[in-house]
Amino acid sequence: MEEKKTYRVLFVCLGNICRSPSAEAVFRGAVERVGLEDCIEIDSAGISGYHAGESADDRMSRHAARRGYRLTSISRPVTTQDFDRFDLIVGMDDSNIRDLTRKASREEGRAEIRRMTDFCTQYDDTEVPDPYYGGAAGFERVLDLLEDACRGLLDYVRSRIDRP
Ligand code: 4NP
Repeated sequence: MEEKKTYRVLFVCLGNICRSPSAEAVFRGAVERVGLEDCIEIDSAGISGYHAGESADDRMSRHAARRGYRLTSISRPVTTQDFDRFDLIVGMDDSNIRDLTRKASREEGRAEIRRMTDFCTQYDDTEVPDPYYGGAAGFERVLDLLEDACRGLLDYVRSRIDRP
């Protein structure tokens, strides 16, 4: 099965329990809607391994479920191999991008590193803000930004793979 995947996307945030698991679910939905699930592999990871082995944050899962997304990922830290395995690594905020860029320069991997909001067309925010210590509005904002970004990201990925 794995040989069929032609393009691999890794979403990264700090803890891998709020933003990147949500990005994974939102993007998976967008990819499935256009029937490209056999061509695009999607995963998520955290800069920190602090929550490794945990399911997504309950608050994030509840907000995502209301929009029809099921968060199924188990938190894991970014690894050395990720920089070679993935075509595209998408960070959520300035701090993620700094950490990923620093790690990438050590690993000499082939992955392109981009920030999630680069793919937004509706919002002009430059970060998907960390919702962990905030309230409900923060989780909703995360989902608004991710839904917008995933539309643009799908166009970008489709332009990079063979199938239109
Ligand atoms: P995430 O959110 O990076 O979107 O998964 C956070 C989760 C946990 C913590 C910070 C942010 N934390 O400090 O434990």
